[in-house]
Amino acid sequence: MTPSQSHQAKYLREDDISQKCRDLLPSLPCEKGWITTSLYQYQGFWYPTNVLNGILACQDHFRAQDTDVLLITAPKSGTTWLKAILFCLLNRAKFSGSMQHHPLHTQNPHDLVPFLEVQLYFGQEIPNLASLASPRLFATHLPYTMLPRSVKDSGCKLVYLCRNPKDTCVSLWHFANKMRSKATDEMPLGECLDAFCRGATPFGPHWDHVQGYYNASSEIPERVLFLRYEDMKEDPHVHVNRLADFLGCPLGKQELMDGTVDRIMRMCSFDSLSALEVNKSGKLSNGVENEWFFRKGEVGDWLNYMTIEMGEKIDRVMQEKMHGSGLKL
Ligand code: A3P
Repeated sequence: MTPSQSHQAKYLREDDISQKCRDLLPSLPCEKGWITTSLYQYQGFWYPTNVLNGILACQDHFRAQDTDVLLITAPKSGTTWLKAILFCLLNRAKFSGSMQHHPLHTQNPHDLVPFLEVQLYFGQEIPNLASLASPRLFATHLPYTMLPRSVKDSGCKLVYLCRNPKDTCVSLWHFANKMRSKATDEMPLGECLDAFCRGATPFGPHWDHVQGYYNASSEIPERVLFLRYEDMKEDPHVHVNRLADFLGCPLGKQELMDGTVDRIMRMCSFDSLSALEVNKSGKLSNGVENEWFFRKGEVGDWLNYMTIEMGEKIDRVMQEKMHGSGLKL
């Protein structure tokens, strides 16, 4: 490691990769990165170098169990929020009496529900996940076609959350600019918009990411649940109930009457989570700062940054690419 690399946050380092990944890179199409220098196109989707390294490791080593639950999103679709909700829902019996001592008060949702490729398999160490208590709860941004074989072969459940692509694009622009090395200039929004519409975003093309899981949710609804950020905001009761039913832990009569969903939604709200000390000052093991995951958490914020014409450009490309899918975003 050179002296300048040793000062870099882990998520910015592009050299801590396996020989397998190093050998693959020269054969892949390459674009300018949003956060690190490069994005590589592998099997139809774009990834930063160190993320591709994590994906390859995860595909080779992750062994899904039938009882696993995987939360899947394209970046900036509300993952942090749904991680918190899922954790609360699945562990509600364990922490029912003591909301003040709930792990969410002292741990960031990304530490409670880690990403496979950008946390657990990030870098070159292979984690031992086999002994974790079930149900194991993980997250990933992997496209459907890139999921490890064992995920498809097992009976594990997949929860996919999508968000309005214009809000996703603006959120990604903000996030990328916070994450970029201090020595690098901010990326102009116009440049991000053009890359988004070409499909060259981390884990993009966005339309193929969403479409892959939308199709899977129609084909195998007992294994894939498709949710929208905006629907969750508008009617959390309906969608938290759907989630609990899908995961095989439906809310009981007593819970439906005693405000369990309201308590979960209050604890996982943007205002509650973003005010916690751990989320204002902590960092993930890959060096990403917890507070970067909390910006505004609003629907329609794209209008404060993009012109109507810019928004129409995203709508047009999404419609063109997803034509005939029946999915409206
Ligand atoms: P904005 O940048 O539009 O504010 P992800 O978690 O997938 O990285 O997505 C981040 C987006 O979700 C950010 O959107 C962030 O503010 C928003 N978010 C974070 N916590 C939230 C919460 N508890 N409720 C709703 N939105 C939340």
